[in-house]
Amino acid sequence: MEYTTLGSTGMSVSRIGLGCMSFGSGRDWMLDREESTELIERAIDLGINFFDTANVYSTGESEAILGDALAGYDRDSQVVATKVYAEMDPDNPNSGGLSRKTIEQELEASLERLGMDTVDLYQTHRWDYDTPIDETLRALDDVVRRGKARYVGTSSMWAHQFAEALRTSDDLGLERFATMQNHYNAFYREEEREMLPLCEKEEIGVIPWSPLARGVGTRPLEALESTTRGQTDEYLEQIPYLQGGGEEINERIQELAAEKGVTMAQISLAWLLHKEWVDAPIVGTTSVEHLEEAVEAIELELSASDMAYLEEPYEPLRIAGHE
Ligand SMILES: NC(=O)c1ccc[n+]([C@@H]2O[C@H](COP(=O)([O-])OP(=O)(O)OC[C@H]3O[C@@H](n4cnc5c(N)ncnc54)[C@H](OP(=O)(O)O)[C@@H]3O)[C@@H](O)[C@H]2O)c1
Repeated sequence: MEYTTLGSTGMSVSRIGLGCMSFGSGRDWMLDREESTELIERAIDLGINFFDTANVYSTGESEAILGDALAGYDRDSQVVATKVYAEMDPDNPNSGGLSRKTIEQELEASLERLGMDTVDLYQTHRWDYDTPIDETLRALDDVVRRGKARYVGTSSMWAHQFAEALRTSDDLGLERFATMQNHYNAFYREEEREMLPLCEKEEIGVIPWSPLARGVGTRPLEALESTTRGQTDEYLEQIPYLQGGGEEINERIQELAAEKGVTMAQISLAWLLHKEWVDAPIVGTTSVEHLEEAVEAIELELSASDMAYLEEPYEPLRIAGHE
């Protein structure tokens, strides 16, 4: 396994993070507790030390499964990230958003489910238009001072919002966001316009979500609906992966995979891992074999001309992943 320090922090993470959104229930493609535990254990065998969950994944079940699976291991060896923002209880308006009340309550609930005293990275899941950013940042600064979180990070938003958050924390002397978990893959590159250059300038750790374009970067077009998730993931219809040059990109990934004797998923991941602003993609899989393929992709070399060939058909897309 290869490790990297996350942005300007001194914390080391494996170059592949394991996404835990598929652990729990509520969707046909999710793994139950036993299957999830097997995947987490294999990830640790492979040297993965970086796990990304959220309070909202299966309404807390994902955190509970992850916490139980990690309990048998040395906690100090693992980097655990979770998130706050999405509403957890439709009858409680303070169960969502980024107010001080929500952040403090939801972090306690996450720690309880994880069975931990501290999370390594506490991320805000989206921008909260109803809470002033300085309230959110002060609350996050306090959770770090209290030892409940080691670093704070955030996820998809507009670059101007991220710039405002960084400037506010610097002006007020508060803990600043150390990471950006954004939507970035070979089929969706809008983040290259503003967000990724900003992250580079500010030394932010970049940990893309849906690095395989939710499966679109792993199978030929005619096979996209060959899996349960491919048939039922409602976000696949909302994200315009196959508009613009997406179909051609899919074909070129197939071509390069055949040429190099690797899988499409490995080409898609290698493309991302060759982008200097990426620290560690957060891979989602429900299969031990696919997890092993992801780890092997770290060693796959792509030449500058391979990279250019994969990128050439891309056309700008409408923004997908945040509002
Ligand atoms: N911050 C946010 O707002 C946000 C949003 C979405 C996701 N996330 C995070 O990002 C993680 C990953 O997201 P994701 O699951 O949407 O995206 P993904 O990693 O782009 O795609 C997952 C899909 O790719 C397939 N796949 C993976 N490896 C494969 C391989 N080697 N061969 C064939 N198919 C393969 C998986 O199928 P199999 O299960 O069959 O392997 C699954 O259908 C989540 O778990 C979560 O932690 C965060």
